[in-house]
Amino acid sequence: MRLNIYLGGAIAALAIGLAPSAYADITLRNAITGETLDMSFAKKGGNTEQFKQFMQTGKNPYNGNEAAVKKGESLYMTGCSGCHGHEAEGKLGPGLADDYWTYPRNATDQGLFELLFGGANGMMGPQYVNFNTDEMLHIMAFIRHIYKGDPKKADWLKP
Ligand code: HEC
Repeated sequence: MRLNIYLGGAIAALAIGLAPSAYADITLRNAITGETLDMSFAKKGGNTEQFKQFMQTGKNPYNGNEAAVKKGESLYMTGCSGCHGHEAEGKLGPGLADDYWTYPRNATDQGLFELLFGGANGMMGPQYVNFNTDEMLHIMAFIRHIYKGDPKKADWLKP
């Protein structure tokens, strides 16, 4: 009898413990259409522990990580600077280092990831063509690093 109660409790605890990883993933949506992003387009190699963490919290675990910012910078220079400028000051595409966003959800990590993965209008095509999801998080950490806008509008820093 005692053993049964104990076992029942253990199974319940296990079920509760497993639930977050099984059900708590955020739902990613296209920045323009609002449709759920089809993650099957993702390039191989991006499903790292950090990306899994992002999928549960909606927060970029690479923010503030010096090595990640450096890698993000080099990826940004390859894939983004031609249109957004070397300091993300804006060129063909808008500036990314200030606090004005065409799409206000870019002030959150989830919003910024959604826009990168799924793209926006015109020349801003979906970036899954060029980068895997872990690389996108690196690029995002670089963009947050060079931010020059009002710290109060840095929604990604809020809990
Ligand atoms: C071929 C040119 C081009 C490339 C390459 C490109 N972008 Fe863009 N990007 C644009 C244009 C044009 C827009 C404006 C689209 C719109 O308003 O819908 C834009 C919009 C954006 C926005 C939305 C900004 C806002 O104000 O809300 C973000 C964020 C962004 N790009 C990030 C990136 C990142 C990061 C990369 C590299 C991985 C990248 N882009 C590569 C041209 C480009």
